[in-house]
Amino acid sequence: MLTRLDKLISASGLFSRSEARDAIRAGRIAAGGIVITRPEEKVDSGALITVDGEPIRTDARRCFMLDKPAGVLTAARDPRQDTVLDLVPGEYSRLGLQPVGRLDKDTTGLLLLTNDGELAHRVISPKSSVVKTYLAGTDGDTDEADVEAFRYGLILQDGTRCLPAGLEPLGGGQCLVRVQEGKYHQVKRMLAARGKRVLTLRRIAIGALHIDASLGPGKMRELSGDEIELIFAHSHSF
Ligand code: URA
Repeated sequence: MLTRLDKLISASGLFSRSEARDAIRAGRIAAGGIVITRPEEKVDSGALITVDGEPIRTDARRCFMLDKPAGVLTAARDPRQDTVLDLVPGEYSRLGLQPVGRLDKDTTGLLLLTNDGELAHRVISPKSSVVKTYLAGTDGDTDEADVEAFRYGLILQDGTRCLPAGLEPLGGGQCLVRVQEGKYHQVKRMLAARGKRVLTLRRIAIGALHIDASLGPGKMRELSGDEIELIFAHSHSF
């Protein structure tokens, strides 16, 4: 597909459209090894683009994993509270990233940020049955009866029925919870229905994509195409 060079460059998030035009006119941009100085010139959207000789990414669809810290809202910007978008480094701030789904303010761990609406929809849609895995700390250990109740499909205290889910007691007040839907406060409410209060909650995987343990709280990094595939490459039976 042929695309205007200034449009392609601004898709990198490194330049606004007018900054892209200036950089092009200044002879800083090459497409496929050839310097182009007219912003309106159309180039192949798959061409290797360089700025001052350094390759940049110009594919419009981008997806990142964030290790969400506690105390931060999963929401668009908020005048009074920190949100996950405040954690996006400046170099990515123009990409139009949005969180995929929600984690509670006190929940930590794997949160996807993307500007690819189709991808976000695929992850969230109940039709995809993408399993999210949480490590929960509770006030008391879960047991085999709880495992059976999760497997069968719990009824929450307000009467809502949940789809079958996985529960793996780990001892020491910890358990793994695997859910294939995303109801409001789902994991906390499921454990509450079994008489357990959640003290800590961390999402550690979405599908077969695990949080990168080397990231650290509040840090994010881009996902490769193979990693994005991992989100959907899983099978589950509870
Ligand atoms: N379930 C919850 O209760 N909270 C979250 O943040 C995510 C899942």
